[in-house]
Amino acid sequence: MKVLMINGSSHLNGTTNGALEIIANILKQEGIDYEIISLASQNIPDCLGCGKCTTTGQCIMGDIVNEIGMKALSADGFIFASPVYYAHPSARLLAVMDRLFYAYGNNLKHKVAASVLVARRAGCESSFDVINKHFTINEMVVVSSTYWNQGFGMNKEQLKQDIEGVNTLENLAKNMAWLLKTIECGKKNNILPPKNTKKGFNFIH
Ligand SMILES: Cc1cc2nc3c(=O)[nH]c(=O)nc-3n(C[C@H](O)[C@H](O)[C@H](O)COP(=O)(O)O)c2cc1C
Repeated sequence: MKVLMINGSSHLNGTTNGALEIIANILKQEGIDYEIISLASQNIPDCLGCGKCTTTGQCIMGDIVNEIGMKALSADGFIFASPVYYAHPSARLLAVMDRLFYAYGNNLKHKVAASVLVARRAGCESSFDVINKHFTINEMVVVSSTYWNQGFGMNKEQLKQDIEGVNTLENLAKNMAWLLKTIECGKKNNILPPKNTKKGFNFIH
């Protein structure tokens, strides 16, 4: 079992990475593989809205989104993590998430997901809401913790001093490991996700 963790920060080794390392330590203890993918230094355009992915199943832009989309196929769990910028997730994470879910949503469907936010002081909850909406429109199983998944600090050293933040992230990782093992056990017993159909309806007549 593997968890793909996407770090939406511009800092390779900043606070968001610190939060993901806390989660990674627990996953390791639980025997779950993980990979952290950093979006730092990546030039990631927003979705063009061309709709080509709806027929080809691939984004035409050929960048890190395509890589993540292909890796998603064999991943069992996902963590999308971001610093808070003006009370929302980073633009680079949102560009990735919009394009990933539009083009490769099927590779994430019925899998386990969680969002993680870090901030100096405020804006985690509104950002949490934005990221979680991608999961809940895509039939994903959202993992929770003992608080909303957030930690405070300007860097990873400060984050480590946020005792409740660290505890929340550790509990999130434990819950994710438990859920992944439970789903795996279900699969072995032929308990599979439903094959739901979606009825689209545009408010235009
Ligand atoms: C453009 C920008 C906007 C920010 N807006 C907020 C904010 O709304 N609330 C907050 O608490 N911190 C804000 N911060 C601080 C970052 O969220 C904080 O420093 C975080 O630890 C950075 O994580 P990173 O090192 O992983 O990039 C902002 C930082 C930047 C660069």
